[in-house]
Amino acid sequence: MNLKKDFPIFKNRNITYLDSGATTQKPEQVIQTIDEFYKKYNANIHRGAYSLSIEATEYYENTRVKIANFINAKSKDEIIFSKNATESLNLLAYSYGLENLKKDDEVVISIMEHHSNLVPWQKVCKNTGSKLNYMYINKEFELSDEEIESKITDRTKIVGITHVSNVLGTINNIDKIIKYAHKKGAIVIVDASQSIPHMKIDVQDLNADFLVFSGHKMLAPLGIGVLYGKKELLNKMSPFIMGGDMIEYVYEQETTFAPLPNKFEAGTQNIEAIVGLGAAIDYIENIGYDKIKEIEDEIISYAIENLRKLDYLDLYLTPNRENHSSVISFNIKGIHPHDVASILDSEKVCVRSGNHCAQPLMRFLGIDSTCRASFYLYNTKQDVDNLIKALEKAYNMFKKYIKNI
Ligand code: ALA
Repeated sequence: MNLKKDFPIFKNRNITYLDSGATTQKPEQVIQTIDEFYKKYNANIHRGAYSLSIEATEYYENTRVKIANFINAKSKDEIIFSKNATESLNLLAYSYGLENLKKDDEVVISIMEHHSNLVPWQKVCKNTGSKLNYMYINKEFELSDEEIESKITDRTKIVGITHVSNVLGTINNIDKIIKYAHKKGAIVIVDASQSIPHMKIDVQDLNADFLVFSGHKMLAPLGIGVLYGKKELLNKMSPFIMGGDMIEYVYEQETTFAPLPNKFEAGTQNIEAIVGLGAAIDYIENIGYDKIKEIEDEIISYAIENLRKLDYLDLYLTPNRENHSSVISFNIKGIHPHDVASILDSEKVCVRSGNHCAQPLMRFLGIDSTCRASFYLYNTKQDVDNLIKALEKAYNMFKKYIKNI
């Protein structure tokens, strides 16, 4: 199945796009939905008594219901719109972390967290006198059960864990982490940014307390994020950003706040991106996660098999295929990844290079940076062949500079 035909960018640019972990391309259906929104529905929501504003509000709120159904939340009030996963995580750090952590409490995260699920916890721990502890990966780039059980203790109050590492592609055993953390009395925040584009998420089944993701990594526009939270927890939290639409009554010195979900949605929201996210969900559901998995499994297995044949590459991924998702990090031994990425670009192959907003992980691995190819439902075996061909070109250009590989 070649889905490239649904994505206008592939008609306009002759590229091998392998950077979907950073942001995915957008299908015609999403672009058309945004276009139609501005042509037929544009008005501010929750603020007008006229029909156009009421219709825009309905469109917005129906999308919230669609997202709640998509992740099987109990109520639409458990879905909060934000700018991106980063903002959702900051909201949790400030509104849950700052209010609930006390001196000598512990926050546990993994060494493979994106900075957005790491830096806010450093700040909150410093401000509250809590301790930030890490779960480290083993030689297979995975979190072992022993590591999980030794780091999450009776002192742990919050566990923050990425479902899928944006560098290693490791799929973490969040089921085990959530059950174990709950046994110890901690709440769990799942960063699903790199998993929800590829696999079905059921928040009730997982029993996650909070779960965050960005729309733009799952075919939706930029600038829209989601925070899912259990209603009883969200109800107890204070708002993070204050302003219009999140209040009930405002007096000169005091304010009472709106009920969920508005309490957390101050200011005019990114309505076009929200309806675009609804269209992206329709697109994903129409293809189906089973089909997405089938497409990706075939391409990623083919990529791993062929990349493993290149003995000048270091690959950073688990050997357990079932625990690996859709990103592959690699380096040409002895060559800086930015140089490799530039040569790949000259062959029109787009990969990300750098530390991928995961400096502590890089330090733990003993490297500065990697190249990262990340795949999605529109990629094909031809894309993998293009990557391999471009890598051969890069290696041939650089090999005279490589010593002792
Ligand atoms: N967090 C995004 C990535 O991993 C930007 O590339």
